[in-house]
Amino acid sequence: QELQMSLDQIEKGGYDHFMLKEIHEQPKAVIDTYRGRMLADKGMVRMSGIDNHMNKFLNADRIIIVACGTSWHAGLVGEYLIEDMARIPVEVEYASEFRYRNPIITSNDVVIAISQSGETADTLAAIKLAKSKGAFVFGICNVVGSSIARETHAGAYTHAGPEIGVASTKAFTTQITVLTLISLKLASKKGTLSKSALRMYLQKMQLIPNKIEELLKIDDKVKEIAAVYKDAPNCLYLGRGFNFPVALEGALKLKEISYIHAEGYPAAEMKHGPIALIDENMPIFVIATNKGHYEKVVSNIQEIKSRAGKIIAIVTEGDTTVKEIADHVIEIPETEEALTPLLTTIPFQLLSYHIAVMLNKNVDQPRNLAKSVTVE
Ligand code: G6P
Repeated sequence: QELQMSLDQIEKGGYDHFMLKEIHEQPKAVIDTYRGRMLADKGMVRMSGIDNHMNKFLNADRIIIVACGTSWHAGLVGEYLIEDMARIPVEVEYASEFRYRNPIITSNDVVIAISQSGETADTLAAIKLAKSKGAFVFGICNVVGSSIARETHAGAYTHAGPEIGVASTKAFTTQITVLTLISLKLASKKGTLSKSALRMYLQKMQLIPNKIEELLKIDDKVKEIAAVYKDAPNCLYLGRGFNFPVALEGALKLKEISYIHAEGYPAAEMKHGPIALIDENMPIFVIATNKGHYEKVVSNIQEIKSRAGKIIAIVTEGDTTVKEIADHVIEIPETEEALTPLLTTIPFQLLSYHIAVMLNKNVDQPRNLAKSVTVE
């Protein structure tokens, strides 16, 4: 029998969909992003786009991150990272709002524009506005030579390789990787992070690709969870701190490809509204990593439980407390809390993927969405 593979199948590298292929490419994509930039043995981060303009960053009154969609979520992680490590004030703006709200921008501002495609119209317009006010604009793009890469003063490519699936996966983790490197670089230069702490972070960063690889092996477990909740009309995603943006991104992934209504919230905001939605029909995905305000998130989980909500928790391996309360737990390998978004996001990607497949949705090209939005 002749072995025949269509061009399409070859392009998907044996996976059923580009999205699944791209999810599985993340260990390599993250390595490609930090290769040559992260010198763990020397305890150094080398990024020419930052090195050549270090004073702009160090003297900046603030950093404004502009982006749309998933890239905006990566930007939020960037805010938590840069403020925590480098102690520089950061604001994160939807490019579409920023460009039209007559924002205050001066030549003392540094703008970081994040875009996978490098072609998003609103982000491009935000960059042009910031430049016209004298700000220094740094781009984080995936597509080499894209409009945003050309329009910015300096930048860093994510080197994730082509992302075909409309729902962004490896672009997100590699954007976070770049933002982590930038935070570490600025922090070490400013002295807000000690040499030994920097070394420790770089060593832990090097372990991340293997940990993602490990996490990808829990696919069957995620599939089982997907089968239980695939018909839910609504879902909530909760996280705190570094993982609050991951909750937003988890909800976005589900909306985009399975058309299930989902909302992401900072866990502590639950009591200001979403808690009213909780009953036995509501699945709630909660990130409860061991160093991320753990006790507080555990009490949120208890509140959900007492209202009969279904709890699917992402915990650190070895967790016992949440395991006793939650309906399902997914364990992520131990790492520094600041690096957990690179891990906690993986089960959410897989979950959305499997739900969409089970519901027979068009995973790679969901209705009404485009990979790159070149109109406003
Ligand atoms: C579209 C895509 C999203 C993406 C957003 C921003 O909506 O469907 O996946 O996050 O645009 O795109 P960018 O290329 O600027 O990151």
